[in-house]
This record gives sequence, structure tokens and C-alpha cells, in this order.
Amino acid sequence: MVAGLDPDLDRLITRLPKVELHLHIEGTLEPEMAFALAAKHGVTLAYPSAAALRAAYDFHDLQSFLDLYYAGCAVLRDEDDFRALAAAYFARAHADGVVHAELFFDPQSHTSRGVAMGTVIGGLRRAIADAHAQYGMTAELILCFLRHLSEEDAFATLEAALPYRDQFVGVGLDSGERGNPPSKFARVFAAARGHGLRIVAHAGEEGPAAYITEALDLLGAERIDHGVRCDEDDALVARLVAAKIPLTVCPLSNLKLCVVKDLAEHNFAALLRRGVAVMINSDDPAYFGGYVADNYRATAAALGLTADELILTAEHAARAAFVKDDIKAGWLARIAAAR
Ligand code: HPA
Ligand code: ZN
Repeated sequence: MVAGLDPDLDRLITRLPKVELHLHIEGTLEPEMAFALAAKHGVTLAYPSAAALRAAYDFHDLQSFLDLYYAGCAVLRDEDDFRALAAAYFARAHADGVVHAELFFDPQSHTSRGVAMGTVIGGLRRAIADAHAQYGMTAELILCFLRHLSEEDAFATLEAALPYRDQFVGVGLDSGERGNPPSKFARVFAAARGHGLRIVAHAGEEGPAAYITEALDLLGAERIDHGVRCDEDDALVARLVAAKIPLTVCPLSNLKLCVVKDLAEHNFAALLRRGVAVMINSDDPAYFGGYVADNYRATAAALGLTADELILTAEHAARAAFVKDDIKAGWLARIAAAR
């Protein structure tokens, strides 16, 4: 139980059917699994134990996190590693009441180490099939380009993924935001749109509001990942409201990466009350101290969200998913019944 959270709201959060749209599957690698996979493959990690690794999760910005996150990827080598990683996430997500998840994956952090695209996608798709059979959950994959790498590398990654086109729904953009604007990838995203892929992009996490505008105008982004710096531009906020552009906000991530100093200072509630389609996600839960229900609880307690606001948050997520309208209608009915 989170301190300061009304028990009725706590129970509502437990009951709410949740859709998670901002989740990096590599960011669900818990230290214990990292050590188990390191032993399996004879890989040496930079820390002596899982406890020591977890104790190193003290970040001061996005890059200080990414350095550990990419180092952790080194233990993911064969198809079963990717299956096991995603299976562990689905078990936790199911326990949190997640009915649907759209998983980001970063193929360049694996293909650069000699792991084949088919190994990554094959393992993740096996876990998705198992989660559907076991829990009735659904999930999709979104391939993210690493924005600190070149446009050429992104094009090569898209090319390598096209044989698996029917196994992922969209493309996104992640990694170090500062100095890597969406404009750098306009041509790659145009090519992805040409293949019928859905478009999302991280923007306005550490980067300026102008990167959100670029993601919309130059990449064709349908959702913005994070987007919390939109409030530096009133005209942009008005545009997000009018065009119903969803923001996949990740409150505990913003806290851990020092995007906000205190959750009580987070602009989630202010954006929600201004009519922006914000929702709550976990981003990299193994690193940021909580899965999606933990994020709902911490945010509700810190910002005094009401039951209606929690329901609206869950509705925003359901509406923003890349699934057919009749599926969304089913979730929305279940959300209404959770009240
Ligand atoms: N931001 C950018 N890139 C990322 C993140 C994030 O929060 N998590 C994993 N890659
Ligand atoms: Zn993210």
C-alpha cells in the first residue's frame, strides 16, 4: 500500500483493466534474471551480485540510465532469453491487471552484438503467444530506432526487420534525446509509413517541446512517448488537446531520471485537467522501481487524482492502443464496470 493513498482508490487501481503502451522490454530485465542469463552464457557483469547491480540504479539523467540499460542487454543472446524476458514481464503485468501491452524493443542493441533480428522477434512473439494462451492478454511489438545512432543505421535496421513485417505493428524512436531531434529520422519514418507501420516517438522527455512538434510534423507520430515538456508551449498543448494526441507518460521514470524532482511536482494531473490524453506507463520497470500499477498508485497519491481521473487515465490508454475499435469498446466497458 502506498502511503497517503485512499484505500478505495487503491482498490479501484487494482480492479481497473490497464493498457500499457510505453514499456521497453529490455527495461524489464530484473538483476536476478541478468545474473542467471550471464551465468548461462559465461558473460561477466560489471557488478558482483544482483543486489550490487540494483544498488547502482541511482540515476541523475537519461544517459546515466541508458549506460546501464545497454550494458544489461549483453546477457540477451538466444531466442529463449528474449522469450523468458517477455514471459516474466507478462506474468507481472497480468498480476497488475494489464489486458493489453505494446512492447518497445531496441533491435540495434542486439544486432550490433551479432544477435539476429529473427532471434529477437521470434523470442518475443513466442512469449506473446504464451501470454495470450495463459492469461488471455494481447500484445503487439513496436520496433524502436536508437536516435544516438545514424540515419543509415536506422535504415539498415528497418530493412533487416521487413522480413518480419507482420510481426510488429509500428516503429518508435528512443535513446538519448538531447542533440538527436526527430528531424534526423524523417526519411526513415517516411519509409516506415510506406510499409503501413504505425508511428510513435519519444519526445519532450529531456528534449524541448519543439521536438514534440517535430515528431508530429516530420515523423507523423500518432502518440508521443513522455511528452511532458509540452507545457513549455501553450499552443502545442492546445494542439495536443484538439487533435487528441495521446501522451504515454511514465511518472516513476521521470522521477528516477530527474525529469522531475518530486512526484508531487509532476505535471501529469495538470495536463489531464487541461484535456490532454495522458496515461500512465512504467517505461523500464526493472530500473525505475515499479510496474504499471505501482505507477498508478504513486501518481494518484502524489497528485491527489480522483476516481474519475484514474478512470479517465485508463480510458486514454485503451483509446490510444493500436487495435480495432471493437476491442477498445470491450475494454472501455470493463473500465466503466470497475468503478
Ligand atoms: N527514454 C529514452 N530511451 C529509452 C528510455 C527512455 O525512457 N528507456 C529505454 N530507452
Ligand atoms: Zn521510454
